[in-house]
Amino acid sequence: TPPTQPFALSPHIYYLLSETNLFLQPFANVTGSLNENGVCQCSVYLPDTTFPVQKVEMLEITARVLSEKFEIELTKVSQYTKAIEMYEQKIQNLTIKVEHMASTSVSYTELDFQLLKLEINEMQRLVTQLKSTLVGSNVIVEQLYVEIRNLTLMVNDLESLDKNNILAIRREIVTLQNRLKECEKERNQTTPPSYFPPGSCGHGGIVNISKPYIVQLNWRGFSYKYGAWGRDYSLQTPEKDLYWVAPLNTDGRLLEYYRLYNSYDDLLLFKNARERRTTYGEGSGTAVYNNFMYYNIYGSVDMGKLNLNTNTLALRKTLPDAAYGNRFSYAGVSWQGMDFAVDESGLWVIYSTEESTGNIVISKLNDTTLDVLHTWKTRQYKPSVSNAFIICGVLYATRPVSTRKEEIFYMYDTNTEQEGKISIIMDKMLETVHSINYNPSDQILYVYNDGYLVKYNLIFQPVLP
Ligand SMILES: *[C@@H]1O[C@H](CO)[C@@H](O)[C@H](O)[C@H]1NC(C)=O
Ligand SMILES: *[C@@H]1O[C@H](CO)[C@@H](O)[C@H](O)[C@H]1NC(C)=O
Ligand SMILES: *[C@@H]1O[C@H](CO)[C@@H](O)[C@H](O)[C@H]1NC(C)=O
Ligand SMILES: *[C@@H]1O[C@H](CO)[C@@H](O)[C@H](O)[C@H]1NC(C)=O
Ligand SMILES: *[C@@H]1O[C@H](CO)[C@@H](O)[C@H](O)[C@H]1NC(C)=O
Ligand SMILES: *[C@@H]1O[C@H](CO)[C@@H](O)[C@H](O)[C@H]1NC(C)=O
Repeated sequence: TPPTQPFALSPHIYYLLSETNLFLQPFANVTGSLNENGVCQCSVYLPDTTFPVQKVEMLEITARVLSEKFEIELTKVSQYTKAIEMYEQKIQNLTIKVEHMASTSVSYTELDFQLLKLEINEMQRLVTQLKSTLVGSNVIVEQLYVEIRNLTLMVNDLESLDKNNILAIRREIVTLQNRLKECEKERNQTTPPSYFPPGSCGHGGIVNISKPYIVQLNWRGFSYKYGAWGRDYSLQTPEKDLYWVAPLNTDGRLLEYYRLYNSYDDLLLFKNARERRTTYGEGSGTAVYNNFMYYNIYGSVDMGKLNLNTNTLALRKTLPDAAYGNRFSYAGVSWQGMDFAVDESGLWVIYSTEESTGNIVISKLNDTTLDVLHTWKTRQYKPSVSNAFIICGVLYATRPVSTRKEEIFYMYDTNTEQEGKISIIMDKMLETVHSINYNPSDQILYVYNDGYLVKYNLIFQPVLP
C-alpha cells in the first residue's frame, strides 16, 4: 500500500514535490511477495538516488527567516516612503515660497527669512536622521539632502541680495537727502522768502502760514462769537484801505450791524468807525469786494449786494439750487450755507446743493449782476470742513485738528478741476474758526476766531519748473 506521507514532509515540501511530478503514479507498479516468515514484502524504486531532505528542510527554514525579514523591511520601506513623500511636499512648498520671494521685488523683512531658515533647518535635521537610520545609501534620500542644501543656499543668497538692495536704496536715499539739503541751502541763500506782488498768481499755492496775529476782540464784545471781518479788495484802487467788521447777533445767525474803518490804525484804536445797520443778513459767510458787501439774505436762498457807501441793498438774486436754511453749514458753525469769497479774479460763492449731496459746490459770480458764471462740484463734504477760502481760483478748506490747531487739508483747483490733499497747520487762539476772508492785495487771511479778529500771513511756494 502506498504511504500517504512517505516522509515527514512539511506541506511546503510536499507541495514542491507534487509540483515537480515526483508523486505521479508513484507505486502503482509495485509487485509484492511473501517471505519465509509469511511477511508481505515489496520493493520501491525511487527515482534518482537520495532525496535531499536535509537540504530542503534548511531551505525551508531559510525561506521562512527571509520572508520574515522581508516583511519587516517592507513595513520599513512603507514608513520611509511616507516620510519621504512628506519631505518632498515640504520641499516643494518651500521651493514655491523661495521662488515667489525671488520673483517679486518686494523687500522681505528679516523675520521672513528667519522663519524660512528655521523650517529648512528642521528639515535638514529630519533628513539627516533619516539617512542614518537607513543602512547603506538611498538615492531618494540623498537627493532630498541635496535639494535641502540647495534651498539653504538659495535663501542665503536671496537674503544677502535683499540686504544689499536695501543698503543700496538707503545709501541712495541719504545721497538724495543730502542733495536736497544742499539745493535748499542754495535756494535759501539766493532767494530769501519768495516775494509775489499783490494780486499776483505767479506762485504755486500756499506752502506755509505764519503764527496768528491777534488784532483785537470784536467791538461788540466777547459774547459775539460768530462773525466775519476783512479788508476790501478793489481792482481799481488796490492800495485803498477799508476794513470791515461784521459780528453776528448772539443768536449766531443774524447779521445786523457792521463797522467800517478807513485805516488799520483806526481799526486798532476803534477810531473813526462808521457803524451801520442792515436788515438782515444770515450767517458769517460775508465778504467785501470793490466797496460792496455780499451776504446771504436772512431766511432765503438769495444773495445780497450791499453798497457800503450808501448802506443800501443794490441787488438781490437767488443762488440757483443752493441748499436752504441751516443745511450743509460748516462743521461747528451754523447758518453758513452760503460763504462768499474774494480772490485775485473776483467774487465767488461756496455752498452745497441737494444734488451735490452736501459736497462743496463753487460758483464764480459776476459781481455786477450776481449771475453764476461757472460752477464746479467738488467731492468734499461741506459739513465736515470748518471753513474755506479761495486763492487764485484754488479753494482751500480747513478742519480742526485740536482746540489749538486748525489744518488746511483740502484743495480744489478750479483752473484744472483737480482736487488734492495738503497739510498746513494753523495755530489758533480759541476753538472755533467762524470765518476766513482772503485779501489778494496783502495776501493775508482775516480770521474771525470765537469773537477775536486774527490775521495770518501766507507763504506761497514758487512755481516748480
Ligand atoms: C508496470 O511495469 C511494467 C514493467 O515493469 C511496465 O511494462 C508496465 O507498463 C507498468 N504498468 C503501469 C501501469 O505503469
Ligand atoms: C504644503 O502646502 C499645502 C498648501 O498650502 C498644504 O496644504 C500642505 O499641508 C503643505 N505641506 C507641508 C508638508 O507643509
Ligand atoms: C540646485 O540648484 C541648482 C541651481 O539653482 C540647480 O541647477 C540644480 O538642479 C539644483 N539641484 C537640485 C537637486 O535641486
Ligand atoms: C531753508 O528755509 C526753509 C524755510 O524758511 C527752512 O525750513 C529750511 O530749514 C532752510 N534750509 C536750510 C538748509 O537752511
Ligand atoms: C512754517 O511757518 C512756521 C511759522 O512761521 C515755521 O515755524 C515753520 O518752520 C514753517 N515751516 C516750513 C516748512 O517752512
Ligand atoms: C458781468 O455782467 C456785466 C453786465 O451784464 C457785463 O457787462 C460783464 O461783462 C459781465 N462780466 C463777466 C465777467 O461776465
